[in-house]
Amino acid sequence: MLRSLSTLTLLLLTTLTASAQPKAETVTSKGGVVVCVSPPAADVGLNTLKNGGNAVDAAVATAFAMSVTWPEAGNIGGGGFMMIAAPGKDPTCIEYRETAPAAAKVDLFADAKVTWLNHKAAGVPGTVRGLARAHKKYGKLEWKLVVMPAVELAEEGFTVNAALAVGLNRVLADRLTTNAAFKQTYGKLDGKPWKVGDTLVLKELGRTLRLIAEKGADAFYTGELAGLLEKEMKAEGGLITRTDLEAYKANERKPIHTTFRGYDVYGPPPPSSGGVALAEMLNILETFDLKKHSRWSPEATHLMIETMKRAYVDRARHLGDPDYTKIPPELTTKDYAKKLAATIDMRKATPSADLAPEITLDKVSDSTTHFSVIDKDGLAVSNTYTLENSYGNRVVVRGAGYILNNEMTDFNARPGLTTRLGGIGTKPNQIAPGKRMLSSMTPVIVLKDGKPVLITGSPGGRTIINTVLCVVLNVTEYGMTVAEAVSAPRFHHQWFPDVARFEGVKDFPELVTKLKPLGHSVTEARQGDAHSIGIDPKTGLRTGAADKRLDGKAVGE
Ligand code: DON
Repeated sequence: MLRSLSTLTLLLLTTLTASAQPKAETVTSKGGVVVCVSPPAADVGLNTLKNGGNAVDAAVATAFAMSVTWPEAGNIGGGGFMMIAAPGKDPTCIEYRETAPAAAKVDLFADAKVTWLNHKAAGVPGTVRGLARAHKKYGKLEWKLVVMPAVELAEEGFTVNAALAVGLNRVLADRLTTNAAFKQTYGKLDGKPWKVGDTLVLKELGRTLRLIAEKGADAFYTGELAGLLEKEMKAEGGLITRTDLEAYKANERKPIHTTFRGYDVYGPPPPSSGGVALAEMLNILETFDLKKHSRWSPEATHLMIETMKRAYVDRARHLGDPDYTKIPPELTTKDYAKKLAATIDMRKATPSADLAPEITLDKVSDSTTHFSVIDKDGLAVSNTYTLENSYGNRVVVRGAGYILNNEMTDFNARPGLTTRLGGIGTKPNQIAPGKRMLSSMTPVIVLKDGKPVLITGSPGGRTIINTVLCVVLNVTEYGMTVAEAVSAPRFHHQWFPDVARFEGVKDFPELVTKLKPLGHSVTEARQGDAHSIGIDPKTGLRTGAADKRLDGKAVGE
C-alpha cells in the first residue's frame, strides 16, 4: 500500500513548489480584464474595452495585435479556437483551424525534403475568417476599429521587450532559418541582435492588416492577398491555391461540456482533442476522492498520470476532424469514465503499451499562445491560436509580410506508424484534402451556477490539455486562487513516450522516490504559460493572472 507523505514533507514540498515556478503577475478589477503574453497586445485589448467594445471585440483586437507584437505564435497565417461564454447563454466555440490544401496527399511527409520548414507544411490559414466570424456575430464595435490598433503597431512600430528579443534572436541565429523574406522582415537593419527597447516596424504586415481592416476578411481569402499567397506557394512548391483560400470556412461549433464537482467545464470540440480529453480526464478523476490526498501526494499524482495516459490513448485512437472521422460520443460520458477508472491500479502504473494492444507500435516551445478576456458585463472569451512551431515554418509571404503556419505537421505524418517515442500513425488524423488536422489547443471556460469562474488555456502542443487539467483541478478541486493555480508546477503524460514529465522535478524528491516503485518514469520538462482569469463567484471580483513562465501582462479596467 502507498503511505501518505508526512505533513512536514508536504509543507516542505508545497513551499518548494510554490517557489519553484515564477509567480503569476495579477490584476484585480470589477470591470473588464485582459491577460496575454504580449504587453502591447494586452493594452490593445484593454483600450478596446474602454472604447465601448465587449470581450469579443477585445479578443479580436488582441489577436490581431499579437500577429504584430508576438510573431512567435500570434498570427494571421495560422488558426485556433475561440470559446465565448455570454451571460445566461450556453457557451459556444468559433473554430478556425487550418485545413489541408486540396492537393495534399496522405503520404505528404514520406518525402524527406518535406520538413516542418517547407512551404508544403502550411495548412490553409483560418485566423482571419475565424476572428471575422466571431466579431460579426458576437462583437459590438465596427470591424475597422478592432483591426486598426494592429495596423498602427505594425506601421508605427512598437517596443521590443525581453521575451520578444530572446525569441527573435534565437530564431534568427538558427541556421535552419533560411527564408530570405523572414530574415529581412524580422532581422535588425544593422544585422545585430535585438535589444530590449529597440523598435520593431513591420510595414508590409501593416499594409496587409490595413487591407483586412478596410475590406474585411475577404481581402485575405479572395482579394489581392490571396493572390500573393498563391504566388508564394507556386514559387516554392507549396500546395495552397487561391481555390483553397476561397473555400476556407471558419465554423461555429458546440463546445464539449462536462461537469466536475458542481462546476460546468466547457472546452473546444474536435478538430481539437482538448475538450474531449479534458472532459474524459475530469470525469475519471471525479470518481476518486482526490482531496483525500494532498495536491502533491504520490496517490493524487499517480491517479492523474494514469488518467492522462488513458485519455491520450483515446485521443490517438479516435480523434480527428469530425467531418471525416466518426468520434464515439461515449468518450465524454460519466459511464465510460467509470469503466476507465476501474482499470486504474493504485499500486502500480499501467504500462502505456498495455493500454492499446490493438495499435501496432513501431520499434523504434512556446509556439502557440493563449489569452483570456472578460468584460464588465461578464462576457468571457478564451482564445488559443497558433502557427504550430515557433514562427511557424519561418516563411514570410512575400508582399504580404505575414508568417505562415506549419500546421500540416499536426496530422499523423506516417500512416500506420505509432512509436514508443510519441509518433502517432492512427487513421482518424491522417491527411486528406480539405481536412482539419487534430489540435490539442484547449481554451476553456469554467462556470459555476451559470457564471464564469475560470478562463484558461495554454500553448505546448500535446502538453496543453494536461496544463489545462492541472490549472482547472488546482482551482476546482484544491481551492487555489487563480494566481496559485497558474504558478503551481504542472506535469504531463501523453501515453507515449511512457514517461511523466514534471516541471521542477528536482523540487519533488520525495514524490519522485515514491512514484518510481509504482512503475512511473519521471523526467523534467517545462510546460506552457497559462494566461488566465479567475472570477470570485461571491464578490464578482476578477483576477487576471499573467503566467511569468514566459512573459505576459494582466490589465484591468
Ligand atoms: O494545435 C496544436 O495542438 C499544435 N499545433 C499546438 C502547437 C503548440 O502548442 C506548440 N507550442 N508550444
